[in-house]
Amino acid sequence: MSANSPSPATQRPQTIAVIGLGSIGGVAAGCLAAAGRHRVIACVRRPIEKLVLDQPGGTVELKLTAVTDAAEVEEPADWVLLCTKTHQTQSAAPWLARLCAPETRVAVLQNGIGHVERVAPLADGAKVVPIIVYYNGERLAPDRVRLRQGSDQDMAVADDADGRAFARLFAGTALRVQLCADFATLIWRKLLINAVANPITALTLQRQAVLRRADIEDLCLAILAEAVAVGRAEGVRLADDEPQRALATLFTFSGELGTSMYFDRLAGRQLEVDALNGAIVAAGARHGIATPLNRALLVLLRAVSDAAASGG
Ligand SMILES: NC(=O)c1ccc[n+]([C@@H]2O[C@H](COP(=O)([O-])OP(=O)(O)OC[C@H]3O[C@@H](n4cnc5c(N)ncnc54)[C@H](OP(=O)(O)O)[C@@H]3O)[C@@H](O)[C@H]2O)c1
Repeated sequence: MSANSPSPATQRPQTIAVIGLGSIGGVAAGCLAAAGRHRVIACVRRPIEKLVLDQPGGTVELKLTAVTDAAEVEEPADWVLLCTKTHQTQSAAPWLARLCAPETRVAVLQNGIGHVERVAPLADGAKVVPIIVYYNGERLAPDRVRLRQGSDQDMAVADDADGRAFARLFAGTALRVQLCADFATLIWRKLLINAVANPITALTLQRQAVLRRADIEDLCLAILAEAVAVGRAEGVRLADDEPQRALATLFTFSGELGTSMYFDRLAGRQLEVDALNGAIVAAGARHGIATPLNRALLVLLRAVSDAAASGG
């Protein structure tokens, strides 16, 4: 069910702080600012005065309220959208400390699982709301982002009071929010896709066409079989043919597409592997399920990521 139907006029303006104005945060902040219903504050590391948003409906230039130092934050926000990479979450702690109060909601727009466990310790009693992101965001310049919409929905959220409140924020914007009764299954399905597409493209330094090789397809099915066993042990309702379904979804994408981990590796940035294969390995360990293939990907990509972090 899509939730962009509530009348925007029925909602009082909210203060929405967006931490991280990268590909995903830039698009979210831009779409909210373009709708003009709420007060949007960008929490950034470098000053920025405007944001240009390229979206299917056209290009808009938006004035932005931005802060570069958490000490400048005057009061808690109604909503915080945490849009950093997963491994940058801890660095957002000073922002969260100033922006969060018990009545604040923190929407976490990050890949992987375990959003609540990762962010709640930093959120001062605020409610943490995990979000699945389906839209493609690309930061073209520090003050310019592009939105591409490949699926029927742009984000998914649990169909509960917090999820519905999140969906209302985006009512009337370009971003479509799906309310989902079985959020746990959906977030694992996204994890399955990410847990093969990202590491394989990053390790081979090839775009998604590499997934279509027969030997790589077999490897992906084996990696996914481990992950599905772990997901089921976690209580997630994954079907017997989930690995094949995940690959079938991946094959609907153009082989020319990269992945975020592929681009991060090319750019010498840290990789989000702990939030993807690392999460599968950790959950497997909790349930006594061996995950040797996911562990191999994790170890190799951690080594790549650590070298990037130390400038190697
Ligand atoms: N890009 C996509 O299409 C896409 C799709 C689905 C899901 N996702 C997921 O969405 C999440 C965000 O990814 P992304 O692609 O938007 O990453 P990104 O382009 O690298 O953006 C991350 C942003 O966070 C900022 N940041 C990091 N630490 C910060 C801090 N302490 N204070 C303020 N800003 C901080 C970075 O600032 P600097 O510019 O200063 O480095 C950067 O602008 C990831 O979990 C990713 O896997 C992405």
